[in-house]
Parts: sequence; structure tokens; C-alpha cells
Amino acid sequence: MKITAYGIREDERPYLNEWQEKNNIEVQAVSELLDSETLELAKGSDGVVAFQQKPYTDDIFSKMNRFGIHAFSLRNVGVDNLSFNALKENNVMLSNVPAYSPNAIAELSVTQLMALIRRIPDFQAKMKRGDFRWEPTIALELNQMTVGVIGTGRIGRAAIDIFKGFGAKVICYDVFLNPELEKEGAYVDTVEELYKSVDVVTLHVPALKDNYHMLDDKAFNSMKDGVFVLNYSRGSLIDTAALIRGLDSGKIAGVGLDTYENEVGIFEIDHEDQPIDDEMFNNLNARRNVMITPHAAFYTTNAVKNMVQVALDNNRSLIENGTSQNQVDLG
Ligand code: COI
Repeated sequence: MKITAYGIREDERPYLNEWQEKNNIEVQAVSELLDSETLELAKGSDGVVAFQQKPYTDDIFSKMNRFGIHAFSLRNVGVDNLSFNALKENNVMLSNVPAYSPNAIAELSVTQLMALIRRIPDFQAKMKRGDFRWEPTIALELNQMTVGVIGTGRIGRAAIDIFKGFGAKVICYDVFLNPELEKEGAYVDTVEELYKSVDVVTLHVPALKDNYHMLDDKAFNSMKDGVFVLNYSRGSLIDTAALIRGLDSGKIAGVGLDTYENEVGIFEIDHEDQPIDDEMFNNLNARRNVMITPHAAFYTTNAVKNMVQVALDNNRSLIENGTSQNQVDLG
């Protein structure tokens, strides 16, 4: 058996080598991202493993079919950058890694919120210029706040536990109810009810057609004045122009983002000598009450190890058994 793994970074190699030795299976690790040209490298392989934010174009899957490759495993959770129809038409099975580390994402979201409400970026800027006064940099306490968690899957639930550990009141909205949270009475019936009751809105839902720009002008206007908004899911959930209007008007007091709707071509690239040609992104990135990380919430040693090794386990299982416990239902 041979597996070709695309987009392999240096930090992934030790985990990949460990898996290869333990399983005695050849894994060809390539640093190139997967596209229809680089797929040539996988000729003769039984399966392909990949991880990238760049879209997977449909011709990749028709070529996989021609090469006799029917096992495709993502090292990440999101499946929004490929077409299920193209996979089905070409008889390619798909798996993902749904829980490489929900805490990795949840911990960064809470970290950014804490930094925002304790005014860390403001204090840092003042300290660096020698201004060691308290005023007017007064903070808020998380234990005094109500957090609205939208999406109560694995990541949302990890976030809820951490918020509760800080003493925050948490209320939730999801279309799929978690029985334990339901028993606690944690859910509100409508997202509108959540918007008007909370001090913080945090998004932990996958990107779907019907939640595109779910946070728009109307949603922001129905929130409390001085709300904090966090997005660690997908950029498409927020209408960025509306977010900027909310920040300008003071409706929104602070924003923590690990994703941005036009992030492909911006994140994961060194822009130090290359200005970013994106007015909305530059607007947000210049604000001290907006903390942005470049889709890096997943990037911990624990998560990376799981992404590599669980994806390889999944791919092996798709090849050997024609199924995997993390197989994605293509409908
Ligand atoms: C995912 O696992 O889907 C993520 O959002 C991580 C990522 C860098 C694509």
C-alpha cells in the first residue's frame, strides 16, 4: 500500500514518520499543495491525504478516478472547499478529522476574548511608549458576562466548559440540541433571542449555504451595545462590511477572529514586504480592539499530531475496508 500526503510541513514530518514506521506503510510526503497538476505525484498510490484552504477543483477528482485512487482523506475538519458531487461522480471516498483538538480552537477563542476585555493590546501599546498609567484603560471581567455560543458541537462545547470555568453565564443556540445542555436549559429557541441577551457572541458552526453572512447589519443591530464578537469557524459567517460598520458605530466593542471571508491569498503568506490589497482586512487589522490570528487556532503540537495520524489511519481504512469511522457522508 502507498499513500501520498500533500502540503506536508516540517512540523508534521515527525508525526508522519512515526505513523509510517509503526504501520509499516509507505507514505510519500510532498510539500506541494494538491491540484490537478501535482496529483501526478500520486500516480501509483492507493490513497491521497491533504490539507489546504485553497479550493480542491473538480478535475482533481476526475484525475484521481483515472489513476485508480478512491480514498481521499483530509487532515482537517472543514469540507467546505470541495464538491461532494465531484467526489461522488468519480467514486472517491472522503474522510476528515472531526476532532483533532476541539480545545485548541476553544482555548484560542477564549484567550482572544480575555485579551480584549482585559485591554492587553491597549496596555501593551501604552507600556511600549512608556505610559504606565491605568486610566482610561479600564477592563471588564468575564465572570460578569453572558456568553452566547452559536454551535454546540465539539468545539462549541469545549468553549462552553472554559467560559463556565471563568464563571461566565453561557447560553447557546443550535439546530441540533446536545441532550446534556438541553437538560441544563442552556438553549434559547431562536438565534435572535441569543443576540439580544448576551455580551459576547461566539460562532462555532460550519459554513453552510444558509448561514452565509448570518452576522449582518440586522444581526449586529439586534445585539447589545458594546458586544464582543468572536469567529473561529469560517469567514463566510460574517458580513465583514457590516462588522466594520458595527465597530465604527461603537455597537461592537471588540472582535476576535481566526478567520476572514477573503482569507485565501492573505493568511499563511509572509506579507511583510508585500502590502495586502484588501481594504476591509487592512481596516480590521489596524484596530486595537480587533485581534486577528491567521486561521491558526488549530496550530498546536497536539492537534497537528492528531491531524496527521488520524488522517493516515482514515486513509488506510478507506483503502483496506472501503470505509472509515471518519468517512464523510456525501449524501
Ligand atoms: C479545519 O480543520 O477545518 C480548520 O478550520 C483548520 C484549517 C487551518 C483549515
